[in-house]
Amino acid sequence: MATLIRGKDVAEKVLAEAKAEVDAMLAEGVLPCLAVILVGDDPASRVYVNKKKEKCAELGIRSLEYKLPAETSQEELLALIDTLNHDASVHGILCQLPLPGHLDEQVTVRAVAREKDVDGFTCLISSGADDLMPCTPSGVMEMLKFAGISPRGKKCCVIGRSNIVGKPMAMLLLAADGTVTVCHSKTENLPAVTREADILIAAVGKPRFVTADMVGEGAVVIDVGVNRGADGKLVGDVDFAAVEPKASFITPVPGGVGPMTIAMLMKNTVCAAKAQSRI
Ligand code: GUN
Repeated sequence: MATLIRGKDVAEKVLAEAKAEVDAMLAEGVLPCLAVILVGDDPASRVYVNKKKEKCAELGIRSLEYKLPAETSQEELLALIDTLNHDASVHGILCQLPLPGHLDEQVTVRAVAREKDVDGFTCLISSGADDLMPCTPSGVMEMLKFAGISPRGKKCCVIGRSNIVGKPMAMLLLAADGTVTVCHSKTENLPAVTREADILIAAVGKPRFVTADMVGEGAVVIDVGVNRGADGKLVGDVDFAAVEPKASFITPVPGGVGPMTIAMLMKNTVCAAKAQSRI
C-alpha cells in the first residue's frame, strides 16, 4: 500500500504561510496585487481565472481582471502588459493560457517583466537566478518535501517535455541534485526507462497513460495529469488502481498536484510583492 501525498494538505500549509506574509505586508502598508489577463471566452480558462481571483480574495491579495475580447491584437495585448509592467501598484501579472490562435504565447509571456512573472514562465532555473519558479513544478517540489522525499542522488524520470511543466520540472529536480531523465513521445522503449525511476513524474496529458508495467517496485509516483474522462470526471495520467500497489508514495487525482498550482501562484505573488516593496 502506497502512502498518499495529498496536495490539499500541502497547499493549506503553503496558503497559511502566504496569508501570514500578506498580513505582515498589510501592516506595513503594502497591498499585494495580482493582475490577471483573460483573452477570449475559453470556458476552462474562465473557471481557472475565477478560482485564482477567489483565492486572492481569501488571502487579502488585491486582484485585477483584464478581460479582453478574442479578437484582441498582439499589439494591444503587449500594450496592456507594458502598462502593467510599469504600474508600481501591480506586483504580479498573469496572462491565462491558452491564447486565441492568432496570438503568440511565447512573445506574450516573455513580455511580462521578470519580477512580476508569477507564472514563472520566464525564469532561468538553469542559471541559478533568484526568479519566481513555475507554479506546478514548484508545487511538486513542495509535495516531495512535505512527504520527506529528497530527489538528491535519486533517479528522477519526467514523462512529458512541455514548457509549463515537463521542462521546468526536470530543471528543478536537477537543481535538487536528482539524476534526471526526460521522456517524451519519441522515447524508445518507454516502460524500460520509466521502470528505473525512483521518482516518476507523469506530465503527459493522457488519461491513465502510466500503467503498472511502467513503474518500478517502491517508486514515488507523482501524477500531474488533469484529464476529463468520458463521464466528465477528472482522471490523472497514472492508472492509479494498477500502479498504487507497486508505489511507495503516490498522488491522487483529484486532490493531488492540482491544489498546489494555485497555492504556489499565491506564494509567488506574495514573494513578488515583497521583493518589489523591499520589506
Ligand atoms: N493555463 C493552464 N495552466 C496555466 C498556468 O499555470 N498559468 C497560465 N497563465 N495559464 C495556464
